[in-house]
Amino acid sequence: MERKAHLITAVVLAVLGVAFVSGQLARVEPVTEICLGCICEAVSNCNRSLACEGDVCGIFRITWAYWADAGKPTILNDDPNADGAYSRCTNDPVCAGKAVTNYMNKFAQDCNGDGVVNCYDYAALHRHGGYGCRQALDAQYNEKFTNCQRQVEQFIQSKPQ
Ligand SMILES: *[C@@H]1O[C@H](CO)[C@@H](O)[C@H](O)[C@H]1NC(C)=O
Repeated sequence: MERKAHLITAVVLAVLGVAFVSGQLARVEPVTEICLGCICEAVSNCNRSLACEGDVCGIFRITWAYWADAGKPTILNDDPNADGAYSRCTNDPVCAGKAVTNYMNKFAQDCNGDGVVNCYDYAALHRHGGYGCRQALDAQYNEKFTNCQRQVEQFIQSKPQ
């Protein structure tokens, strides 16, 4: 009887350990508008005159594969399988934001292993994708993103409650 209890305890601990290591017990914060704003600042200065260039489109510089992984969101009344649905969505700030949010929710993970899935992890996911976000961020992207977050924090703290 006691042996069995020990075995069960060991199994439970092993399962918890695996879940913890794979980051599934990390607290997951939502993808906020502010977070989207800082990702767009970092990736394109949120320059709305950017259209498609090479294999990326719009203020979030989204590829076709990213948009497809995000579930092919569309602008109103568009067909996800129509020609140009990808560029019409990714060049529209609202639709592009929806693509980013969908992508983050799909791949949400604790990229930097700090026990919380937050905007830093979303920024890393946006930069390196759902399978490579543990890589360090390049200096320019990291700096723009960090500056934006810092400014937003100051704004929030100075706002009268
Ligand atoms: C926005 O992008 C356009 C097109 O690439 C460029 O000409 C313009 O200088 C950019 N504006 C800013 C503020 O970066």
